[in-house]
Amino acid sequence: MADKFYVTTPIYYVNDIPHIGHAYTTIAADVAARYQRMMGKSVWFLTGTDEHGQKIFKTAQDKGIDTQAFVDSIVTRFKDAWKKLDVRYDDFIRTTEPRHEKVVQAIFHKLKQQGDIYKGEYEGWYCVACETFWGEAQMTEDLEGRFLCPDCGRPTDKLKEESYFFKLSKYQEKLIAHINQHPDFIQPVSRRNEVISFIKEGLKDLSVTRTAFPWGVKLPDDPKHVVYVWFDALINYISALGYPDGEKFKEFWPAEVHLMGKEIVRFHAVTWPAMLLALGVPLPKMVFGHGWWTVEGKKMSKTTGNVVDPLKLADEYGVDAVRYFILREVPFGTDGDFSLKSFIERFNADLANDLGNLLSRTLTMVEKYNKSQIPNSKNQTSSNELKDLINKTPQLVDQYMNKLAFSEALGAIWGLISRANQYIEQQAPWALAKKGETEKLTEVLFDLCETLRIVAILVGPFMPATAQKIWAQLNLPQPLEKLTPVPFGMPIAGTMVKKGPALFPRLNK
Ligand code: MSP
Repeated sequence: MADKFYVTTPIYYVNDIPHIGHAYTTIAADVAARYQRMMGKSVWFLTGTDEHGQKIFKTAQDKGIDTQAFVDSIVTRFKDAWKKLDVRYDDFIRTTEPRHEKVVQAIFHKLKQQGDIYKGEYEGWYCVACETFWGEAQMTEDLEGRFLCPDCGRPTDKLKEESYFFKLSKYQEKLIAHINQHPDFIQPVSRRNEVISFIKEGLKDLSVTRTAFPWGVKLPDDPKHVVYVWFDALINYISALGYPDGEKFKEFWPAEVHLMGKEIVRFHAVTWPAMLLALGVPLPKMVFGHGWWTVEGKKMSKTTGNVVDPLKLADEYGVDAVRYFILREVPFGTDGDFSLKSFIERFNADLANDLGNLLSRTLTMVEKYNKSQIPNSKNQTSSNELKDLINKTPQLVDQYMNKLAFSEALGAIWGLISRANQYIEQQAPWALAKKGETEKLTEVLFDLCETLRIVAILVGPFMPATAQKIWAQLNLPQPLEKLTPVPFGMPIAGTMVKKGPALFPRLNK
């Protein structure tokens, strides 16, 4: 991978408050960004909000609030949520900001000038909730003969209006060629196959303006039109970098990865790259569509009332436990199911038992058998299974992290933690102390502290506060967050440990 790393989340619609689905994409992006930062890369992490479109206009109208005032109030909720969930983004873009709107207008103008956007008439079926047009063949009819949106099942509306079109069809062959030449462009592979068959069915030109409502980026030379919300929104990934001349654009584009849920891969892997091809701008390196969360087997929905609020979970169980769970529970790319039962099971097994106990047992023994000081093992170079794993794990984690295989990366870290817990049982430091086998005892204690040091570094991107706590209890001199790139082999012997409270007190539920 390059020395820079530009990662984005989708920009979220502001007709809804943040839920676990939004938190999933955003925490994943944050973990990827923190990891690459730690490895010494120059990182840019962008998130933001998608504030235009009929759906938001309608929600504000239904509430009887001015649309701008309404979106302003929801944006705060998103920003507060990310702060609370320890998400450290570099920039937050709102599509109602002038810095974004002017780029949308400039791009629209350029594409119109060069003939990639033309004026015509649109007639079709539109789902307001999903902000998507559908063909009759893609929909089913209900008993009243209404065409239903294939995504959300709501009735669609017939629209007929003057519209500008983007020549998507012109880019069909170029897109297929790009996808074939860049096997990593669309991940995971299942999504790639879906996109390829979608393109091969034939791409139609895309209606990219609306006249039925006023809430969007206006066309300065034809002001009854506003830009279609998806055409507007996708541009955020470059408008935020100051396209076309901004320093950040030169430094960070193309993105290493656009992260998103599987239902919006099509916009990112077809519409967006076609827009970029038309503009002559390089395409992002990867578009990754993760899976969806259900809740106890059911689709999450406001009507069912089963929407999981990540902030409530964080209040009750801690931010790091939430961050850990959602990235550990299912491989990124696969659908997952959320239940409080599995959350608590994992909390107790992985966090309280495996990690929490390793820290507290190790430090208790260092206090007891070596007057709280991390010993200087004479046998630091001797090899055993634990030492081998200490050396191997960072590389393994690196391979997984470069593939965004978060669950597998955590699996590798927990492999090391479990091995260290077994090592305690096998080596029985209490027995070594009793028998006066000091040399062996110091070696074992050293190995355990070294494991904890490596674990603290590796869990840092996932659980920043927990990593700090482990670091503080080991009482290591250099601040963890200042170590970039992290030295996997720094000396720790001689440090006086400071045992603190349990990292994750067991939940009795
Ligand atoms: N505004 C568009 C994106 C424009 S990007 C140029 C949008 N916004 S959204 O608010 O609907 O958020 C979508 C993101 O939240 C997607 O990544 C989506 O997959 C994620 N999730 C929403 N519900 C989800 C689950 N139940 N599970 C996992 N993620 C889901 O689409």
